[in-house]
Amino acid sequence: MKITNICCIGAGYVGGPTMAIIAQKCPHIKVTVVDLNIERIAAWNDSDVTNIPIYEPGLSELVGEARGRNLFFSTEVEKAIDEAQMIFISVNTPTKTYGLGKGMAADLKYIELCARQIANVAKTDKIVVEKSTLPVRTAEAIKNILENTGNGVRFQILSNPEFLAEGTAVQDLLSPDRVLIGGDSTIEGNEAIQSLKEIYANWVPEDRNVWSSELSKLTANAFLAQRVSSINAMSELCEKTGADVNEVARAIGMDSRIGSKFLKSSVGFGGSCFQKDILNLVYIAKSYGLNEVADYWEQVIIMNDHQKRRFAGNIVQTLYNTVSDKKITFLGWAFKKDTNDTRESAAIYVSDYLLNEQANIAVFDPQVKGKQIFNDLNYLNTRTIEENKNGITVFEDPYEACKDAHAIAILTEWDEFKTYDWQRIYDNMKKPAFVFDGRNILDAEELASKGFIFSSVGSSK
Ligand code: NAD
Ligand code: UDX
Repeated sequence: MKITNICCIGAGYVGGPTMAIIAQKCPHIKVTVVDLNIERIAAWNDSDVTNIPIYEPGLSELVGEARGRNLFFSTEVEKAIDEAQMIFISVNTPTKTYGLGKGMAADLKYIELCARQIANVAKTDKIVVEKSTLPVRTAEAIKNILENTGNGVRFQILSNPEFLAEGTAVQDLLSPDRVLIGGDSTIEGNEAIQSLKEIYANWVPEDRNVWSSELSKLTANAFLAQRVSSINAMSELCEKTGADVNEVARAIGMDSRIGSKFLKSSVGFGGSCFQKDILNLVYIAKSYGLNEVADYWEQVIIMNDHQKRRFAGNIVQTLYNTVSDKKITFLGWAFKKDTNDTRESAAIYVSDYLLNEQANIAVFDPQVKGKQIFNDLNYLNTRTIEENKNGITVFEDPYEACKDAHAIAILTEWDEFKTYDWQRIYDNMKKPAFVFDGRNILDAEELASKGFIFSSVGSSK
């Protein structure tokens, strides 16, 4: 099928950027991104393109170029489904917070709702592409729902998991390491795969198009997260033994079999994918009775939780075993630099721990809004909205945020933190002035020379 009209359900961190690239690279295709969230769609349509709801380097320029030409954002879900030949499902698949599989399995209710909506609306044959990260065999469930509508419309379901990382989404989409496309091995299935391949062929070399299954996506994220937990496990040992985790990472990264990426010790990984996908993998393994497999992968999460708790505990311990009524400034709230996404960010859990210790927390993040920070904490449900409001103050200026603080904690590796006037920050802090670098981005010797008591992850210096 020659595709000229695409609809994407879900205008989030995946749907928005992915469709902006398709629209840019395929000017002959009309791309409509739909979402139930009216506010989000309004932001995508904001006349000032820098106000789009997702911050990603290069994204607003891309949207500015294609929006209104062949890229559209709308809340008219049914109309867009009706008109499209190919429908991408990019809705969220969070960890279940209720019932069977609570805290582990992926919640597929939004996926199922999409399938039912497509089934209701479709009058012509459609190719449905799963872009969301899904457990194995979800395609079968979607197919079941679609095929039981009795209206004679034929559907092909493809699995095309997205590997983009936030902060580098545009680059990752422009030159992906691989594009995975899975589908039925029937004539119709192969034709559908070919249609999707033709879209990617507008900018991705053919040799990077390979077949695979839904499980590859979970495995890739589990392997990446496992590397971070492995190096974080070593960071604790380094702190005890006097070794330096950065040197250990550099040394092992030179072994080409290991490679140097994803070996950066930190306050713990966050983001909407790693924890969710591993929990999902653990759930799948358990459901097949593979307890050793489940325990193996669960340990990656246990280690990550330990790292976040350990970072917070270290702050309390170093500040003479009490942070009660002390101002602790967080530089960074996003789960990594160059994004405004805060989902599962280590900052949320570290602040929760410190709020339990009655600290006064000040936060500055170059891209995250105050409203989001309070939403993140309120979502934890560990204290009242009022208590969270009293415990946290959000600043728009980093120097104001750091003024009169007892300690500063770096929670996100934003580049700008490295270029701050640290002497000015030191002069305006309570003494002794502590810095806890949860991302190992600052120069230990330079900060110590200014008078700071400095500690980083995985080093006893
Ligand atoms: P997101 O929460 O940013 O966006 C999902 C959007 O879908 C929301 O705006 C929501 O309102 C909308 N939605 C939900 N149900 C809907 C419905 N029935 N009709 C219309 N809109 C609906 O999520 P995301 O980060 O874009 O992730 C989407 C999927 O992609 C997830 O499965 C995730 O695991 C996967 N993924 C995410 C990333 C990432 O870096 N964020 C990377 C690769 C894959
Ligand atoms: C991840 C995968 O990388 C991507 O392929 C997939 O499509 C979605 O999930 P993302 O979560 O956006 O992407 O960011 P990523 O760069 O993987 O970082 C995840 C977390 O790990 C961040 O909190 C990051 O700070 C942390 N991290 C990463 C480390 O602590 N150390 C590292 O060496 C690398």
